[in-house]
Amino acid sequence: MATQVSFSMQKSPQKSIKRKGKAALAGDVKDLALAEKGRSRIEWAARSMPVLEQIKARFGKQRPLEGLRLAACLHVTTETANLALTLQAGGAEVALCASNPLSTQDDVAAALVEAGIPTYAIKGEDQTTYYRHIGAILGTRPHLTMDDGADVVSVLHKERRELLAGVLGGTEETTTGVVRLRAMAEQGVLAYPIIAVNDALTKHLFDNRYGTGQSTIDGIVRATNRLLAGSTFVVAGYGWCGRGIAMRAKGMGANVVVTEIDPLRALEALLDGFRVMPMSEAAPLGDFFCTVTGNTDVIREEHFKRMKDGAIVCNSGHFNVELDLRALGAVAKSRREVRDFVEEFTLKNGRRIVVLAEGRLVNLSAAEGHPSSVMDMSFANQALSAEHMAKNHRSLEKKVYAVPQAIDREIARLKLESQGARIDKLTPNQKRYLASWQEGT
Ligand code: ADE
Repeated sequence: MATQVSFSMQKSPQKSIKRKGKAALAGDVKDLALAEKGRSRIEWAARSMPVLEQIKARFGKQRPLEGLRLAACLHVTTETANLALTLQAGGAEVALCASNPLSTQDDVAAALVEAGIPTYAIKGEDQTTYYRHIGAILGTRPHLTMDDGADVVSVLHKERRELLAGVLGGTEETTTGVVRLRAMAEQGVLAYPIIAVNDALTKHLFDNRYGTGQSTIDGIVRATNRLLAGSTFVVAGYGWCGRGIAMRAKGMGANVVVTEIDPLRALEALLDGFRVMPMSEAAPLGDFFCTVTGNTDVIREEHFKRMKDGAIVCNSGHFNVELDLRALGAVAKSRREVRDFVEEFTLKNGRRIVVLAEGRLVNLSAAEGHPSSVMDMSFANQALSAEHMAKNHRSLEKKVYAVPQAIDREIARLKLESQGARIDKLTPNQKRYLASWQEGT
C-alpha cells in the first residue's frame, strides 16, 4: 500500500513522512495515525457521490489523464478526497494542498497520503506553511492545475513563472477565483486556459445555494449551539450563496435581513420576503451576521460599534477579508476564546461581539463544508473539465472558458437518474411547435 511518490525537487522540497519499517510517503499532514478514520469517512461520503463514482469507474478503464501531473489546491475534505481518487483512477499523478488554512480535515489528509496522493495540509496551519504547501505541489511541475480561489494560479504567475511553459490548463472551483482569473485574462496576463467550473449550472445553482445554505447554518450551530428561531439573522450579499443562507435561516425560524449593493439583487431579496437595508441600519438589529459578498470590509468598525451585546458575526465568503477584524481588535479592550472557533471581543462600551472561525469560511472551519451529495455535481464538473482540458488544450487560448454545456447537462441527467427521478420528453408535435414562429393563438 505504501507508495513512494518522488518528484524532482525544485525550490519547494517535497516533504516525506518517515514511517518505521515502511517506505516513506510524500506529504505534510498532522498525523498519519488518523488515516483509518479518514478512509472510513471518505467511503461514507462516496455513497452520496454517485455521479463522481460513475466517472471514477469510467476513468479507471479509459485512463484519460494518464501521464499528467495535476496540482490541486482545494479544501481537503472527504468530498475532495473522492475527487482526488477519481483523478488518480484516471491516470493523473495528483498532489494536493489546502485552499484555506482552517478547512482541512486532518484524518482525510492522512488517508490521502496513505492512498499515494501527496497531500500538504494541516488544519490551523499558519500563512507561511500555507504557502509552503502551495510551493510543495508546484514542485511536482504540474501539467494541470485545479484551484479553489486561484491561489495556485496566482503563485505560479507571480513567483514560479519558470513552470508556466509546462502547464497545459487548469480549472477553478469558486466565484472568487473566477473573478480573479477573469481580471488576469482581461489584463492579458493569464498564461494558460482555465475552465470556470463555478459557472456551470450544475455547480453554482446547487453548491453555492443549497451547499452554502446548509453548511453555513451547520457551522454557526456547531460553533455556538445557539437557537436561530426568533432571532434576527443578517445576510450580507444576495448572490447564490446569500440566497441559500437566507432561505435556510428563514427555514430555521429566523427573521432574515439582507444587505446588498446591487439594486436587482436587493429587489429580488425584497420580493423573496426579506427586509433589505444598509449594514449601518442592520447592525443594531442583528443577533447573527454572515457575510458572503466576495468583497472586503463589509462589516467595519462603525458597524461593530452599533451591534447588540452578544452579536455573533461570521463569514462564508472565500477570503477572510469581509469582516474588518483588525479594526475590531483595535477598538476592543479585551478578547478571549470562549469555545472552539468562538472568540469574544469586549468593546470599550462593554458590549461583547462574538466572531466565529477568525472570520474564515465558517462552513468549512467549524463544520465540514457542503454535503457530499451537492459536491458530487461540483466535483463531477471538475473531473470532466480536467478530462476536457487534457483532450482539448491545444485548441484553447489563454482565456477563461465555460464548462461545455454537454458536460453540464450530462451531470444533471446522471444526478437525476441517481435520485430515481425521471423527466418527460418532447413529443414530435411539441418540437415542431417550438421550432415554428407562424403559429399564434
Ligand atoms: N467547498 C465547500 N464545501 C466543500 C466540501 N465539502 N469539499 C470541498 N470543497 C468544498
